[in-house]
Amino acid sequence: GQMSGGCPFTGDNSVRSLLGRTNKDWWPDALQLEILAQGGKSADPMGDDFNYAEAFNALDYNALKADLTALMTDSQDWWPADYGHYGPFFIRMAWHAAGTYRTGDGRGGSSSGQQRFAPLNSWPDNGNLDKARRLLWPVKQKYGKHISWADLFILTGNVAIESMGGPVFGFGGGREDVFEPETVYWGTEELWVDQGAETRILPDEGKALDNPLAAIQMGLIYVNPEGPGGNPHDAEGMARDMRETFSRMAMNDEETVALTAGGHAFGKCHGAVPPDQLSGSPEGGALEMQGFGWATDKAQIAEGHITTSGIEGAWTPNPTQWGGDYFRLLFKYDYELTKSPAGAHQWTPINPEEADMAPDARDPNKKVPTIMTTADMALKRDPEYRKISERFLNDQAALDDAFARAWFKLCHRDMGPKTRYLGPEVPEETLIWQDPVPAGSKPADAAVSDFQSAILNSGLSVSELVKAAWASASTYRNSDHRGGSNGARVRLAPQNGWAANDPEELSKVLSKIDELRGDLSMADAIVAAGNAAVEKAAKDAGFNVSVPFTGGRGDAGDEHTDAESFEPLEPFADGFRNYLRTKATVKTEDMLVDKANLLGLSMPEMTVLLGGMRALGANSGNTKHGVLTERAGQLTNDFFVNLLDMATEWKVVDTSGDEEFIGSDRKSGEEKWRATRTDLVFGSNSQLRAVAEVYAENGNEQKFVNDFVSAWTKIMNNGLFGIA
Ligand code: HEM
Repeated sequence: GQMSGGCPFTGDNSVRSLLGRTNKDWWPDALQLEILAQGGKSADPMGDDFNYAEAFNALDYNALKADLTALMTDSQDWWPADYGHYGPFFIRMAWHAAGTYRTGDGRGGSSSGQQRFAPLNSWPDNGNLDKARRLLWPVKQKYGKHISWADLFILTGNVAIESMGGPVFGFGGGREDVFEPETVYWGTEELWVDQGAETRILPDEGKALDNPLAAIQMGLIYVNPEGPGGNPHDAEGMARDMRETFSRMAMNDEETVALTAGGHAFGKCHGAVPPDQLSGSPEGGALEMQGFGWATDKAQIAEGHITTSGIEGAWTPNPTQWGGDYFRLLFKYDYELTKSPAGAHQWTPINPEEADMAPDARDPNKKVPTIMTTADMALKRDPEYRKISERFLNDQAALDDAFARAWFKLCHRDMGPKTRYLGPEVPEETLIWQDPVPAGSKPADAAVSDFQSAILNSGLSVSELVKAAWASASTYRNSDHRGGSNGARVRLAPQNGWAANDPEELSKVLSKIDELRGDLSMADAIVAAGNAAVEKAAKDAGFNVSVPFTGGRGDAGDEHTDAESFEPLEPFADGFRNYLRTKATVKTEDMLVDKANLLGLSMPEMTVLLGGMRALGANSGNTKHGVLTERAGQLTNDFFVNLLDMATEWKVVDTSGDEEFIGSDRKSGEEKWRATRTDLVFGSNSQLRAVAEVYAENGNEQKFVNDFVSAWTKIMNNGLFGIA
């Protein structure tokens, strides 16, 4: 199996903050625009009414593609096109936009145009891509709101491949730009790769790559091209690093080989000038640089004397034409270790024939040696990669197909279900990594309410029904739009066996739902049952509310499900169910906040949902922690009332590693409650306490119920693209 599961937050034993190093750490002097976002004011100039899908659908797609094709060869003096063709440069731009995706938390990737912002715009690995984006600006400007930067990066990569004769599988639009840097955990290191950041896999020191990270050093998209920690002799380590990082973006060996070899059929590496002759990265650069970084001498640029990675040279004699030269040269020659003018390790063929040399980037009549990076060499030095490479060497059609498919996956992996793809080039074929769900149909209102009455009379408890619905819906990730209640994958492996889901209880509940559901899909029935339970719990507490139900979910089968690819969705902590499998390297309450973010919740939504779930008795394992009520199963605000009650005094349970607490009567000392960090943070953190107070106040009881119902409904309907 290629997919690495594992807890996204367990690594070595040290405690880290949720976000690790952030832009504030890297650029302490940066303009503090966050203060303008206080009070929930949006940074997005497009406004709430803007509908990107509508704008995209009104795009003159063919005209845009024609403009992009023309742009490929429209060389600009301020950054001339190597070989007169920007295609390879744009492919690297698209690859690096998509390549930050990681399966561990679904974050990163191409879907919001993050390459425009720090830290990605300034990562050493994204060197000079500031120029690529500026070359695109006139096209972006021309088509305006009809094409987002995020879509444009990927579409431009596709057009680049097509314009050089390469195979593409399709394009789906629909990536909506954001206007602020995403807060993503990119690592804890204080240095970037070019400043000596440590490599993250050190087997001799027992050091493994921290999940969810998918890059080998801070500031890289994937691996160090010169070798592990820059060591070109460690062939085994190079393949290990590639395998680990690519698997974390859902790529197996074949996809890794096809992508790397296919990508390096095009273009060149840049390492003609020593890196100390470049200015700093774009973010934090001088005002007059206008967001450009890595500046160098104009005359040098004109000559093609540019440094990006530091490695220098093209892989093939035809860097602007798709073909099989990459593997032909890789296997035809023995390569020797050499150094680029910028001082980077690289590999050069021994005694190349004239015809196998590359043109100079500015002078087609001049011939220069081709190169391979240490990463390229792994494609023949690693036994498994080599088998695949040899197959591609002898079967160009197989490489064409594998590259086109892997590129499509790379660029669309974080877009969620295929129903989210827009435009005329969406491929017919459905792919397993799109987590397909057969279409469902909307059940009649009467069928839903009949089922809801039946399930409430079936002997199952409020808690059991709420827990099943939560288990089904709460896998959703706003980051890559995977998971959620559609498909009812909660009844399939691996989800039906996840410890957080209390498998035995879940299986009992699902059988009963299946027995009574009539025409409803399982996916709809699980949610309808949960909704009915919430309504009953509210009613039992004296509130009449109706929990709105949206039907139309379909049921996926095992044949629609790549079980292994769902492993990273397993909750290792789910604060809403007071579930913690193992203590992590971040605080348990940080993991609640992280999950709330992936579920798309605001701070009040997180708060009301958690308090309500406790009242409903929805803990995993049916523990009593945080169930601060005498009437569990009723939708009351008791969690907040009792948490904030000064009559209770809290103490940590010494043997619990700071995870468990006892609440006792301040006067008598008698034990009243048990709670976890996740519970007590709502009394301890000043902001969460302020929200908890609102839900504990007299007069806000109905508000509590209403807010719970709307947050609950949001969770139940997450991921219903094209349905809700
Ligand atoms: C360029 C490394 C995978 C497409 C480069 C450069 C390096 C590199 C060092 C030179 C950058 C410069 O100095 O300008 C790697 C490594 C990879 C990898 C270590 C994985 C192990 C890929 C993939 C693709 C790709 C998956 C796309 C499918 C390209 C292209 C260029 C390039 C088109 C040429 C850019 C230009 O001509 O300006 N790569 N790469 N690479 N890479 Fe990769």
